[in-house]
Amino acid sequence: MKILITGGVGFIGTNAVLYFLQNPNNKITVVDNFSRLGVDMNATYLKNNFPKIKIIKSFVGNINNYKKDLITSDVIIHLAGQTAVTTSIIKPHHDFKNNLLESFILLDYLRRNNPKATILYSSTNKVYGDLKNHKMVLNKNKKIYIDSCHPTGIDETENLNFISPYGCSKGATDLYFLDYARTYGIKTVVFRQSCIYGPFQIGVEDQGWVAHFSKQALKEKPITIFGDGYQVRDLLYVEDLINAYDLAIKKIDKVKGQTFNIGGGIKNTYSLLQVIKILEKEFNYKVKISFQKMRIGDQKYFVSKNEKIKRILGWKPETDFKKGLDKLISWQKNNL
Ligand SMILES: NC(=O)c1ccc[n+]([C@@H]2O[C@H](COP(=O)([O-])OP(=O)(O)OC[C@H]3O[C@@H](n4cnc5c(N)ncnc54)[C@H](O)[C@@H]3O)[C@@H](O)[C@H]2O)c1
Repeated sequence: MKILITGGVGFIGTNAVLYFLQNPNNKITVVDNFSRLGVDMNATYLKNNFPKIKIIKSFVGNINNYKKDLITSDVIIHLAGQTAVTTSIIKPHHDFKNNLLESFILLDYLRRNNPKATILYSSTNKVYGDLKNHKMVLNKNKKIYIDSCHPTGIDETENLNFISPYGCSKGATDLYFLDYARTYGIKTVVFRQSCIYGPFQIGVEDQGWVAHFSKQALKEKPITIFGDGYQVRDLLYVEDLINAYDLAIKKIDKVKGQTFNIGGGIKNTYSLLQVIKILEKEFNYKVKISFQKMRIGDQKYFVSKNEKIKRILGWKPETDFKKGLDKLISWQKNNL
């Protein structure tokens, strides 16, 4: 199978490349413009260890740079994107072009030139907005927020409510990918992903908070929390996510045109402060924390229900957060 991965030297991309390389029959092409700070390290790792991978340095929207590969690919995994809400607020025009326009150019090119391909899109739970209409209550003992009307998580029937330019660019792309299945019969699948973490993640304050927190704790540096730190996320280990991609590719006729919420689920639900506690124990170091105002669009609680993807693809998260975190930390110790 020929697989083209956009954003393929980024965090999820590098993990996807390594996963699909396990099958010697797969041929992998990566398209990435290396705009994310630090991803050249992932690219060097891939180039040095797997010289057969084709890595094309290009913007996704510059199709001419890689159109031969695009036309001949069986599967396109579209991961490339600007990933920070904060950056999107500072540079909305860039976010629009980078995330929405370039994705549209890719999708429409595929419609015209490779309509039989399987196309996966990595969307986000941010398409549901800040969920302010949900009744979030603070559990005073556990010091975590709970969504009292959705105690088992949030599913795909949740209202769309794009907040921030990032929310808009990801959400609009998400809907385009779904609509191209409806209108043109293109084989697209959309994953609305919760917080993903794992090796090859270069977390920064603006995005990739688990990797950012563990890097700060490892280096005995302070952490800024935006909000009170009781906000809750379901954390999904990256390999589990790629397993879902693989299942979707294998069962594309069953899932084309569908969207799936996907996250670590109830069992892997932690508040920011709970994660810091785990890290303090791990490194035997008391992290210096400061607090700032909650950021726009931030959710007090998001846990993915994962029921639809379990029912249709038989997928569920396999990696316990503490085990996954150990893998991330051991990668960070060797690489950062
Ligand atoms: N990591 C998460 O927790 C998470 C959660 C929800 C959704 N997502 C989505 O998953 C995708 C991958 O996320 P990630 O965590 O691997 O991020 P990442 O920043 O590590 O990877 C994205 C890659 O895309 C590249 N890129 C950005 N714009 C590009 C463009 N126009 N053309 C070519 N390459 C470009 C970057 O250089 C980077 O290598 C993103 O689209 C993101 O919005 C991620």
